[in-house]
Amino acid sequence: MTVLEAVRGDITTQPLDAIVNAANSSLLGGGGVDGAIHRAAGPRLLAACRDLRRTAYPQGLPTGAAVATPGFDLPARWVIHTVGPNRYAGQTDPALLASCFRESLRVAREIGARTVAFPAVSAGVYGWGGAQVAEIAVATVRAETADDDPVKLVRFVLFTDALREHFERSLA
Ligand code: APR
Repeated sequence: MTVLEAVRGDITTQPLDAIVNAANSSLLGGGGVDGAIHRAAGPRLLAACRDLRRTAYPQGLPTGAAVATPGFDLPARWVIHTVGPNRYAGQTDPALLASCFRESLRVAREIGARTVAFPAVSAGVYGWGGAQVAEIAVATVRAETADDDPVKLVRFVLFTDALREHFERSLA
């Protein structure tokens, strides 16, 4: 059974197997949680992302897809990068956001991560409402984790109390 929980905090300090980054398609960093993760992981993270652009993702990471890199200077062993839908670019399809959570879990299983932290993907710069992100995130993780799932813990790490309350409500 996968335990789901919501905490207030900074995802870069989470000592879990993997933390999920709300990246953009370029994979070359940005603001928000992307910027925080790159700052905390150190320059090797950007180098690893540049390698991904030279190899697996020459066109960039598509919205809804996920890919892992090492965590380098982070306490987490891995970073799973995913690209959420951008409301300001007209990406309003909930299935795109659900895909971020589903694909990140798939990648977590591939790399053998048993504990995973997610931020509120798309709830910042990409303009999605916190309540809707919480609802989609919790429903997707619940639907995508089996009783004997190798992922044992999914921790939603929220930067604000308002977001944590949205997630607590969705988890209740
Ligand atoms: N820990 C946890 N959550 C954080 C942190 C942090 N250190 N910093 C920010 N957040 C929260 C934001 O408050 C928001 O609730 O992460 C959520 C996602 O917001 P963004 O980081 O803005 O991500 P998103 O809305 O998906 O937009 C992605 O923003 O930073 C750029 O490069 C990124 O272009 C991409 C876009």
